[in-house]
This record gives sequence, structure tokens and C-alpha cells, in this order.
Amino acid sequence: MTRRPFIAGNWKMNTRRQTAIELVRQLLNGLNQDVRTEVAVCPPNPYLTVVADLVAGSPIELGAQNLYPAGDGAYTGEVHAGMLTDVGCRFVILGHSERRQYFAETDAFVAEKLQSALAGNLVPIVCVGETLEQRQADQTDEVVRAQILGSLEGLDEVRAAGIVIAYEPVWAIGTGLTATPEQAEAVHQLIRKLLGELFTPEVAAQIRIQYGGSVKADNAAQLLSQPNIDGALVGGASLKAADFLAIIAAAEATLA
Ligand code: PGA
Repeated sequence: MTRRPFIAGNWKMNTRRQTAIELVRQLLNGLNQDVRTEVAVCPPNPYLTVVADLVAGSPIELGAQNLYPAGDGAYTGEVHAGMLTDVGCRFVILGHSERRQYFAETDAFVAEKLQSALAGNLVPIVCVGETLEQRQADQTDEVVRAQILGSLEGLDEVRAAGIVIAYEPVWAIGTGLTATPEQAEAVHQLIRKLLGELFTPEVAAQIRIQYGGSVKADNAAQLLSQPNIDGALVGGASLKAADFLAIIAAAEATLA
């Protein structure tokens, strides 16, 4: 089973209207119309519509960085799945380590968001990953296992095949430290095995697992050549068109 590579840019709380427009224009200029890799950008909420208009009809898809698991109602400051699809989002990042760290998001809350995303026809990108302390204490496998079990709680086999997982070791995010391809592949293998136990090996073989954490133009090829690394969730390097395009090119090269 070949999984289509998927490169997503997580802009986090960066860009302004004008820099977002320029970045997307450069990406559109540099991207082949027939690119086989799936490509998405996830701008901050205020810029979703402006980016949606620019990427309409192009190979670039749109994602959001979070959602709140409810419908219309009195939830000041929050945004739900129906609003995100309404402005053209196809993806939503869930349970990013920054949300787990700064906003105390638990696996149970991520699982609620996952249900809400799927019910609202969004493709969730569910993030997991260990901290440096946990890796040094040799707890990576159990931490990632618990996060997968908790965050995917209530997910059925039929819907599972369509989700995306992002393995993002916390110590590699924004630090310039990248997991070696071997370190990343080992955890991706573990995740796929676990997904096979939770669902079926056939379903697990369809689920795309991205790596995230200081993915750059110069390390993407090695990471993406690993058999269980199906793409990348890119933070810093997604803010520079040339770097993001080079990462997409590295994904394309795995298809050659
Ligand atoms: P980074 O961020 O590429 O800047 O390390 C990745 C992420 O947090 O998704």
C-alpha cells in the first residue's frame, strides 16, 4: 500500500495579512500544478479566508491549527469545525504539543476534538510526542502509546483510515534539534504497530504518519525516505517559501 506523502505547514502564531499573501503567492509560483505530494498550509484563523481565496483551484489545501468541540453557542473566543469547513479548511491540527503545554490540553480533550473534526468533515492531524525528559528517562514508547490510545479514544475503524498522525518529539520542535531518521522511524513503526492493534493492520497501513520537529530543506530527504514516515508537519521552515518548497520537492523525490 502506498501512502500519498503529505507535507503541511504549521504557521503557528506568525505572519500578517500581507506576509501571508506573499508567502502563498511564492508557494503557488514555485509549485508544480501536478505535484503528487499532498500539500497544506495552516495559517492563523484571521488569515484563513484570505489564504483560502488565494489557493482556490491550486494544489495547496487549507488547514486550521485548532478547533473547539461544540456547535454554535456561547464559547467566547473559540471556533468550531463548521466554521472551519465554511471558510475552506480540509485539515485541522489537534493536540499540538504547544496546546498540550500552554493550554493544558489532555488526551481526553483531544479525543473530543477528534470526534468533532470528523463529524464536521475535517481531516484531523493528531499530534503526539515525548519531551526531552521523557526520552532521557527511556519513556518515549510508553508516553507515545498513552497519547495515541487516549487521543484516539472512541475512534472507529472506518474513520481511522482517513486520519493523519504527526509524531513530533517536543525536544525537536523549534529547537533546531531533529530526531535522526532512525529515531523517528522507530517511533513511527511503534505507532503503526499500535494502530494495527487498535484497528486492523490494513487500516494501520493506510494511516499517514507525519514527522515534525525542525524539519528543514536539508534534513527532509533523509527523514522522508524512511518507510513509515509519510510526510512532515513543518513549523519554522514553512514560513519561508523556498524552504517549504524544498521540503515538498524532497517528498516528491520519494515518489520518483
Ligand atoms: P518546527 O515546528 O518545524 O518549527 O520545529 C514543527 C511543529 O511544531 O509542528
